Amino acid sequence: MDAQYEITVIIPTFNEEANIADIIEAVNSTLSANNIRGGILVVDDESRDKTIEIVQNLTLKYNNLKIIVRHEDHGLSQSVIEGFKQANSDIFIVIDADFSHPPMLIPLFYGEIKKGADVVIGSRYIHGGKIQQWPLKRRVLSLGATGLGRILFPEITDPVSGFFALRKEVISGVQLHPRGYKILMEVLGKGQWKSIVEIPFTFTDRHNGESKLTFCIISDYAKQILSLAEYSLTSRNNQIWNEWKKMAKFGFVGFSGVLVNVGFLYLFTEYLGLYYITASVVAIEIAILNNFFLNDYWTFDLKDEVNSFTQNRLKRFFSFQCVSIIGLIINIGILYTLTDFFGIYYLVSNLIGILIVFFWNYLVNRHTTWKLKTYSNYSASKSMFVDTDSKQGMFVDIDSKQGMFVDIDSKQGMFVDTDSKQGMFADIDFNENDKFNK
Ligand code: GDD
Ligand code: MN
Repeated sequence: MDAQYEITVIIPTFNEEANIADIIEAVNSTLSANNIRGGILVVDDESRDKTIEIVQNLTLKYNNLKIIVRHEDHGLSQSVIEGFKQANSDIFIVIDADFSHPPMLIPLFYGEIKKGADVVIGSRYIHGGKIQQWPLKRRVLSLGATGLGRILFPEITDPVSGFFALRKEVISGVQLHPRGYKILMEVLGKGQWKSIVEIPFTFTDRHNGESKLTFCIISDYAKQILSLAEYSLTSRNNQIWNEWKKMAKFGFVGFSGVLVNVGFLYLFTEYLGLYYITASVVAIEIAILNNFFLNDYWTFDLKDEVNSFTQNRLKRFFSFQCVSIIGLIINIGILYTLTDFFGIYYLVSNLIGILIVFFWNYLVNRHTTWKLKTYSNYSASKSMFVDTDSKQGMFVDIDSKQGMFVDIDSKQGMFVDTDSKQGMFADIDFNENDKFNK
């Protein structure tokens, strides 16, 4: 049987009486303005305020609205997973109730999934994305969390976002073990996905009510990272496992580079009679070449295509060369500091240096030289979403956070400003060709 909806908007709630009616209204008007047959599923954890009552009353008005009240094992992630289970559609999107995530972007998420993305993430950290009104402490914590997440998912800038959409297939048959707030990490770590799109958005902190983020959630996050890492090693059929494989190959290549380096140093000094420093410089360069080609052909699967700025091999080589030379300097710096200032035996200092530089080389190259493209970023800050059947569209300028709904036949539109949440109806006189080049 066909799914009832094209998309289900999952809204987890806990004490959201101040926001819930408005968010449902906003989601519904975005869906209908874009002719998307969507359902709204509120998943509540026994709110102690009027949230449940408000939603139950609204179900009389909206027949695409449903509420689930969970009586045990409360938590944001658990609620979202319950939403996945109960949703009657092949596409899901998760959105906060407190307007931190602009509902007007829902059609863009939906559009990207329709175009083929498996997961679409609302990102606060790619170009065009922002966070408003967060205290320094919260920013630092969040950057720490995303930084850790990026080790597991180098292509994703905001793996802990709470605003994301996905296809049902990504998680079907996968046992999600929910913990804390970072349900997206769990989906990315265990789910079956290939293509990811990130859409920048401005995260606006809630105006009404309080954040439920506590210290517990932070330690839960650390535990989640560890358990995902462990899962990836035992289950193997996932993206994190692929990442470990690359790291291991990179290490192996690095090791081969050491052998190449020592071999040529010996050859040049003993057989060609070069001064050992000159010989060493040449040997280092040969090792860099050796590592570059092995990594380029073997470690990184270029079937995945690299990022546009390093699409050309020469550029990749230049990038690798720079990272390697900086790595070398760091290595010598560590060797010198540990040996001279801390009195550590020089061979031990050197080993420590090599280990640190290995991570430096891997992480930096992975994020520059071999940044892969399959997970495409949503580069345009302006975008138009049009439904060709209904001839309705939405124009969004992500930088100014302004949008406009347009109806092509009647040439009428509505401007929306997501900051002030105000809108205005307008008559538009566009000519056929430059319709959306506004
Ligand atoms: N069902 C349920 N159960 N919902 C909850 C719970 C819970 O235990 N705790 C929070 N929620 C709901 C809130 O009602 C809101 O709709 C949404 O989940 C986010 O909660 P907030 O308390 O507003 O979270 P935040 O603003 O601190 O955190 C946001 O940013 C994080 C990234 O830094 C959220 O978007 C998180 O999902 C996101 O990971
Ligand atoms: Mn919030």
